[in-house]
Amino acid sequence: MRSIVVLHHFLCLLLLLSHLNSVSSWKKEEFRNCDQTPFCKRARSRKPQHCKLIATDVAIQNGDLTARLITPKNFEQNPDEDSSEIASKPLILSLSVYHNGILRLKIDEDPSQNPPKKRFEVPDVILPEFESKKLWLQRHTKEVINGDSADSFVVYLFDGYEAVLRSDPLEVFVREQTSGNRVLSFNSHGLFDFEQLRVKKEGDDWEERFRSHTDSRPYGPQSISFDVSFHGADFVYGIPEHATTLSLKPTNGPGIEHSEPYRLFNLDVFEYIPESPFGLYGSIPFMLSHGKSHGTSGFFWLNAAEMQIDVLAPGWDSESSISLPSDQKRIDTLWMSEAGIIDSFFFIGPKPKDVVKQYTTVTGTSAMPQLFATGYHQCRWNYRDEEDVKNVDSKFDEHDIPYDVLWLDIEHTDGKRYFTWDRVLFPNPEEMQKDLASRGRKMVTIVDPHIKRDEGYHIHKEASKNGYYVKDSSGKDYDGWCWPGSSSYIDMVNPEIRSWWADKFAYTEYIGSTPSLYIWNDMNEPSVFNGPEVSMPRDALHYGNVEHRELHNAYGYYFHMATSDGLLKREKGQDRPFVLSRAFFPGTQRYGTVWTGDNTAEWEQLRVSVPMILTLGITGITFSGADVGGFFGNPDTELLVRWYQVAAYLPFFRGHAHHDTKRREPWLFGERNTELMREAIRVRYTLLPYFYTLFREANVSGVPVARPLWMEFPEDESTFNNDEAFMVGNGLLVQGVYTQNAKDATVYLPGDETWYDLRTGTAYKGGKSQKVDASGAIPVFQRSGTIIPRKDRFRRSTVQMENDPYTLVIALDSSGKAEGELYIDDGKSYEFKNGAYIHRKFVFSNGKLTSVNLAMSTSAGPKFLSDCTIERIILLGHLTKSKSARVEPTNHVTEVELGPLQIRTGVRPSVLTIRKPNVKVSDDWSIQLL
Ligand code: NOJ
Repeated sequence: MRSIVVLHHFLCLLLLLSHLNSVSSWKKEEFRNCDQTPFCKRARSRKPQHCKLIATDVAIQNGDLTARLITPKNFEQNPDEDSSEIASKPLILSLSVYHNGILRLKIDEDPSQNPPKKRFEVPDVILPEFESKKLWLQRHTKEVINGDSADSFVVYLFDGYEAVLRSDPLEVFVREQTSGNRVLSFNSHGLFDFEQLRVKKEGDDWEERFRSHTDSRPYGPQSISFDVSFHGADFVYGIPEHATTLSLKPTNGPGIEHSEPYRLFNLDVFEYIPESPFGLYGSIPFMLSHGKSHGTSGFFWLNAAEMQIDVLAPGWDSESSISLPSDQKRIDTLWMSEAGIIDSFFFIGPKPKDVVKQYTTVTGTSAMPQLFATGYHQCRWNYRDEEDVKNVDSKFDEHDIPYDVLWLDIEHTDGKRYFTWDRVLFPNPEEMQKDLASRGRKMVTIVDPHIKRDEGYHIHKEASKNGYYVKDSSGKDYDGWCWPGSSSYIDMVNPEIRSWWADKFAYTEYIGSTPSLYIWNDMNEPSVFNGPEVSMPRDALHYGNVEHRELHNAYGYYFHMATSDGLLKREKGQDRPFVLSRAFFPGTQRYGTVWTGDNTAEWEQLRVSVPMILTLGITGITFSGADVGGFFGNPDTELLVRWYQVAAYLPFFRGHAHHDTKRREPWLFGERNTELMREAIRVRYTLLPYFYTLFREANVSGVPVARPLWMEFPEDESTFNNDEAFMVGNGLLVQGVYTQNAKDATVYLPGDETWYDLRTGTAYKGGKSQKVDASGAIPVFQRSGTIIPRKDRFRRSTVQMENDPYTLVIALDSSGKAEGELYIDDGKSYEFKNGAYIHRKFVFSNGKLTSVNLAMSTSAGPKFLSDCTIERIILLGHLTKSKSARVEPTNHVTEVELGPLQIRTGVRPSVLTIRKPNVKVSDDWSIQLL
């Protein structure tokens, strides 16, 4: 026995070493493909019209349209078909309608039939207030579709839209009321299948084996699959996380040799490769479609089990006799999940921003970050010791590079026991943090969910005593291998355990932590080095007797939630948490930030980081980024510089690297390259007022900070498939450079208005591709018709910028108009929720700029005050040569003259500038050009 244990430990050690020295590339064979995943293989092999269910007993109950789904009596089972595929008991369906164009479809087993177990329904994702948005259906109308033998039932959905339940053949769809055009439909191809739970009989072999692992599957097959069609769609997007293009390529059907479906199964994947449908660290089962004819629509399936999704190439169903209305373009998709129920949402759009708003009405908008978190973060596995930290910190100042946060990876702990410090390397963690804080800087430390099984470790002692660990299938604490060696995993699904975990972040518990310390959650898929597919066995057990398979994709979400609650609790709800997480699920946006995990220092990885981050944005998680420079390997200097230049415009901006790589802080590559990286980071800092305003927009409406071009130009077909460029808000277009030795770049500038080069102010005509200089920086343009707020003074970090004056850059459209916004609050607390903020709208028209209050007025007057002024106003595209401007209500006249576009040595005065209007950002005022 002892020798088996020793052998096991030895093998685990080897595993650990292979993780540490992961110079090897992606180990495909460690992960299951669809053919090795029985539920996926079964679902993929089904033919159209497989589903024989019909809807009966259709009624309005509790404001929903409800039905029972049954197999008709006269249906003869095909002897070739597996009997498990035939639903013997009825299923229960309900359709509910919510405000603003949301339809919810639920299908589950019928509880009155006493199923062996209640299937898992994911709690804590849907916002509690969502239920209050339900429209209580009062009535339905009946109609006969296509000469069906049974009625279809029609209910009101939204202005101009209705939802239809067709009973035989079973189908649910959303259509436009007047044209009758479909928008979204469910089971139009009859691929719906729902494996109901059964009691195991003698001879049933339900075990599944993969490599050396056996999954006992005590409840047998319980998968669900169905088809969803997006009508009027040219492209589909979403369902992160995959390292692939923004518009999702078909994975099955004519012309596709062999492709895996898009997999959603949170996994720790070493050195993932770009251009793959393989599942990565997080899962969001939300797909959007966009097309010229309908606009945008979306479909979201709230389910936390392994999911696989096929995008079907046109003609995939050519052999079937189904005929859907053919005048519209359509994209069909097949959705397959191992377990759970159907709890799904149809979003009618029809504009891109409507769909993200509809989705975030269900799952929440992103939390408002602290201002510091929107600056630059410096990380490395690992900054060795306090000396190293001091050194790196002071080098930023020496090289005049602003940054806000210094990060410590796992080596700062005492033997990978989180919440502790290696006291040899970090003897005075409090002083270290205070020293950083004296320059306005923060620190982030890592806290992972695997807990070292060490009786001397207080977290382990409490967790094992209280029964807080996930159990294995035999009911013992699950024991797996991760960084600390033998580890157990906190069962974060239980609210009581989450609350216990949150308390661990109190200053009295997390010794050595101070108010300027924030947290990084890693390995929370969860990663288990010796587990199946580097994760937890699916038959492990959670609180409430829920199998791991049912909630796998939500495990990391709960961990992130509990950590975020911990930071909230330690400052009694006064300080906005900052927690970065690798795993994610719908709703993650409410708890913090995510990054795209272990990428590699290659050009193609820089390229794919853009669609990955855009995809996260349109599926709710706007605050995301990729490791700058690439985690594995050593980027060549040009790649590193380009990476900084692109990432400076993406929401979460952090440099990070594996411990095997060479040091790569921005000052290590010669003066010219330091200058280029400094410039990239500084531009980010000048634009922070704009970014912060956009984060607030995302917080209010769900619209992401970084947006695909089609979100701003939904009519322009040339944008639908473009994932090399992106918009920051509605005002900036950023074109990445993803190849070596590029002196220039070709940029497609959408719309018919002019665009202004951010560095030179040069005007470019929209509606076509332009070849532009890309030598010293990547091309970035301001859209005409927008006003962008900046802070141009160089400082060490965001804290020192607080009282700096603003610059407004106005890019006029062809009718001489422009608009923009500025949002300001204290940058850290929740007082903004009580009205303590400034929100202005700047409107330029007829030669006059006006600042209008957008903040809600309170009888007690403004709760957030700022003495900040506007020191410069730059006018791009202004043709008349004004010499002065009158400021109201002070009624003073100020000069208008040529000034530099950027405050830098060597930049010539070339743009019309209103100098020193010295109006306050918090006041109402106007400035008329004379
Ligand atoms: C894996 C993470 O993805 C990486 O960023 C981190 O440096 C290592 N774990 C060590 O904590």
